[in-house]
Amino acid sequence: MEMSQNLGRGQKVYITTYGCQMNEHDTERMYSLLELNKYLAATSPEEADIIIINSCSVREKPVHKVMSEIGTYKSLKETKSQLKIGVGGCVGQMEGKKLLQKARLLDFVFGTDSIDQLPQILDSVVQENKRDAWTRMGHRETYSLETLVRKTKVNAFVTITKGCDNFCSFCVVPFTRGRERSRLMSELISDVRGLVSRGVKEITLLGQNVNSYKCPEGAGGLSELLKRVCTETDVERVRFTTSHPKDFDDALIEVLAKHIDKLGHYVHLPAQSGSSKILEMMNRGYTREAYLEKVHKIKAAIPNVNLSTDIIVGFPGETDEDFEQTLSLLQEVEYENVYGFMYSPRPFTKALKYTEQVPEEIKNQRLQRLLEFQDSLSEKIVHKYDQKIFDVLVEGPSRHNKNVYIARTSHNKVVHFESDTDLVGKTLPMKIVRAQPFVLWGEVVSQ
Ligand code: SAH
Ligand code: SF4
Ligand code: F3S
Repeated sequence: MEMSQNLGRGQKVYITTYGCQMNEHDTERMYSLLELNKYLAATSPEEADIIIINSCSVREKPVHKVMSEIGTYKSLKETKSQLKIGVGGCVGQMEGKKLLQKARLLDFVFGTDSIDQLPQILDSVVQENKRDAWTRMGHRETYSLETLVRKTKVNAFVTITKGCDNFCSFCVVPFTRGRERSRLMSELISDVRGLVSRGVKEITLLGQNVNSYKCPEGAGGLSELLKRVCTETDVERVRFTTSHPKDFDDALIEVLAKHIDKLGHYVHLPAQSGSSKILEMMNRGYTREAYLEKVHKIKAAIPNVNLSTDIIVGFPGETDEDFEQTLSLLQEVEYENVYGFMYSPRPFTKALKYTEQVPEEIKNQRLQRLLEFQDSLSEKIVHKYDQKIFDVLVEGPSRHNKNVYIARTSHNKVVHFESDTDLVGKTLPMKIVRAQPFVLWGEVVSQ
C-alpha cells in the first residue's frame, strides 16, 4: 500500500455510512487507508477535521438523507472554518460535480472507484484547498486489492466482485458501481487466510451478484471459489451475498450441501416479485416458476434452510393481482425474513420511463400489507427453533444489555444469551429457550 510522509499529519476523519454491506466494507477500507497515511479516526463529527458521508442512491430516501445530513453540519462549519465535508459512495459517483453546486457546504465529492485515491484526494482538499469531484471509473482495469481491516472482529467482509452488469430495470447500481469485475481466486484465498490468521472466524463474500463471480484467470466461478475457501482455509464459516436467482445453479447447490458445516443453512435469494409479468418488466431473467424451482432444489439439498428475500412493491404496472401473487410467493416459500421496499424511480433506469407508475398511497398500503402478512408467517415459522440445540458463533456483547451476548446459528439466526464470561469468537452449543421472529433467546448447554 502506497504511503506518503506528507499526508494526514494527525487530522481527524469521521465517516457516516448509508446503504448496503458493500458501503460498510468501503468505509472500513477508507479508515484503513487513511490511518496508513497518518490520519486518525474521529469518534464524533464535532471532533473531526474532515467529515465524509459514504452515501447510497438505491432509493430516493437515502439520497435525501445525504442532503439533510450535510445541512446538519452548518453550524459546525461556521465555528470551524477549516472543517472539510465530502460525499463519497453511490450518490457521489452519480452526481459528481453537480453535488458541489447543489450543496454549498460541501468541499469535495468522490466516487465508488476512487476510494484508493482518498488519501491523495484529501491532500488536495486540505493542503491545496481544492474544491472538486473525483469520479473517474475504471471499467477495464483488473480488480485487485488486499482486504483492509483495522481491527479484526469475529466476521469480516471480503469483496469478490465489484459492479453489476444485470441492469434490472429499477436499479441504479450498474450506474453507480460500473461494470462487473471479479478478483482473482488465488488472491481471494490468500486474503481469507490472512484474515483467519488475524483471528477472523467467519467471512462474508460480497458482490452485487455473487453468482456471476468468475475468476479472470479461469479458475472457476462461485461454486469453485466456495469449495476452495472451505477446503483450503481454516475459516469456520463462510457466507455470501447477494445471490441472483437467475445465476443460482445446480453446481452451487451441490457445493452448499457438501460443505454445509461451513456454508450453513441460510440463503438470501431476492425474488423482487411473485408475478412473472412484473419480473419480466423488471428484467430479472427468471419467472415465478423458475424461481420456485430453485427454491425447491435448495430446500431439498439443505434441510431446514432459512430463506430470506427482497421484495419491491408498487413497481410500474403492478396490479392488485400481481401483488397478490407476491403474497402467495411468500406463503409458498415460507421465508423467515422479507426486506420490503416501495418502488422508487431512479435516474438512468429503464423503469423510470414506464408509464403505469403506481400512486404513492397504493405503494404504501401494499408495503404495510406485505409486512403484516410476513409478520404473521414469521411468527409461526420461528417456533421450529424453540427448545432445539444449535452450535452458535458468538459475535460480541450486546450494545444494550450488560452480560448479554449476541451469537448466530448456522441459519444466520441471531441468538441473545446471558453469560458472565466473555465467549466472543467461540462456537458452542446453545439451547433456544424463547423464539421470537427477530431474535432467539438461548442458554449455553454445558459440555
Ligand atoms: N445486488 C443486490 C442488491 C441490490 S439493492 C440484488 O440484486 O439483490 C438491494 C435491494 O434494494 C434490491 O434487492 C431491491 O429489492 C431494492 N431496490 C433496488 N432498487 C430499488 C428501487 N429503485 N426501488 C425500490 N427498491 C429498490
Ligand atoms: Fe441492481 Fe439487479 Fe444488479 Fe442487483 S442484480 S445490483 S438489483 S441491477
Ligand atoms: Fe446503495 Fe450503492 Fe449499495 S446504491 S445499496 S450503496 S451499491
